[in-house]
Amino acid sequence: MKILVIGGGGREHALVWKLSHSPRVTKIFCAPGSAGIGELAECVAINPEQIEQLADFAIKENIDLTIVGPELPLTLGIVDLFESRGLRAFGPNKAGAQLEGSKAFTKEILAENGIPTAAFGTFTDAGAARQFLAEQKSPYVIKADGLAAGKGVLICATLAEAEAAIDEILVRKAFGAAGDKVVIEEFLAGEEASFMVLTDGEHILPLASSQDHKRIFDNDQGPNTGGMGAYSPAPVVTPEVHERVLREVLMPLLAGLKRKNIRYRGVIYAGLMITKEGPKVIEFNARFGDPECQPIMMRLKSDLLPLLEACIDGKLDRVSADWHDEMAVCVVLAAQGYPGSYEKGKEISGLGKLANWPQGFVFHAGTAKDGNRWITTGGRVLGVTARGKSVAAAVAEVYRAVGQISWAGMHYRKDIAHRALSADRS
Ligand code: AMP
Ligand code: GLY
Repeated sequence: MKILVIGGGGREHALVWKLSHSPRVTKIFCAPGSAGIGELAECVAINPEQIEQLADFAIKENIDLTIVGPELPLTLGIVDLFESRGLRAFGPNKAGAQLEGSKAFTKEILAENGIPTAAFGTFTDAGAARQFLAEQKSPYVIKADGLAAGKGVLICATLAEAEAAIDEILVRKAFGAAGDKVVIEEFLAGEEASFMVLTDGEHILPLASSQDHKRIFDNDQGPNTGGMGAYSPAPVVTPEVHERVLREVLMPLLAGLKRKNIRYRGVIYAGLMITKEGPKVIEFNARFGDPECQPIMMRLKSDLLPLLEACIDGKLDRVSADWHDEMAVCVVLAAQGYPGSYEKGKEISGLGKLANWPQGFVFHAGTAKDGNRWITTGGRVLGVTARGKSVAAAVAEVYRAVGQISWAGMHYRKDIAHRALSADRS
């Protein structure tokens, strides 16, 4: 089979890597891919939002299956377009992708189906937003409604900060049109988990649990990022929590989507806060999490391809996923300045030492090749991902590997998986 993967980050590198082990895959294209992905797939210079050109390419190359990595093309309706042109694509249609594209849509579907989440209000008017704020308690959670690459959430300790955040979003348009509406939310206390499932619209196949590390600095300090590291499984997702997430979140969600005549096929990523009262939804994404996808693909024993096909064909009840018992940890190496403006074009050294690394793999998120030299091109540059028999073994191995790599200004968190480490010791 000929496969096209859309996207070019660490998530797509992990998907390409996993699919490259599939016996039925004969050729993988990746648009736009990256220099790292280029070692496993043929990169095509089309961007994810150029959905017409991607469809033309898929027809020209007789692509059997297209897998959409990032959210933007999903919200633009790439799957609807591909289907209208007789092409098979993995991911939700445009209506389904609203689950990620619009926080207001998500809040509505949560409320309609009694799914536990934070209390909230949605505003287009800064005056009304300020009035609502005055009735809330600190800390204040302020969100731009639309897509903001995981950076559209501000958690403010004081009312003055919260009011300034509202002005930034609604008046000064810091997030552009994504900030036409603002959502003000109750603060949820607890431990976060990423709970991803595959669905064909009728059936649900849970993937292994994971936990992301959203803040830029150790001990969850500093601004939110797209994710600085992840590990799987997440001990906070106990068998009891797992059952509750399926029963209280995902099953009612799927039923609610069906009532809106949305046949959702693809990944549903539930970003959860595991509170004292149980799991509550922070957000949904319509795609695999990044970096979570990296440790999850490393732990997936089964072939990924039949699972994705079963989603599209409505036969997810006929397949199952086997997982390696080992745990996996991914540490993101980022450029200096990320998640703000960052420097590019720094030479990366040490990747050669990890070229045949038996306990892991280095997924590329933002690299290019200049002759034989690897250089940085993104904010998140690499996702160094290792397996281990225990959390401690995987953590030791991943940081041993990270120690081999360097460039001017390289930054990473030194506490990835700390919650799993403490859970293991207790
Ligand atoms: P989101 O983009 O909605 O996933 O939010 C990004 C991050 O902000 C989440 O992963 C949480 O760490 C934090 N966050 C968002 N909403 C809340 C909330 N209501 N209470 C506590 N933390 C939150
Ligand atoms: N790592 C969080 C996300 O993919 O949205």
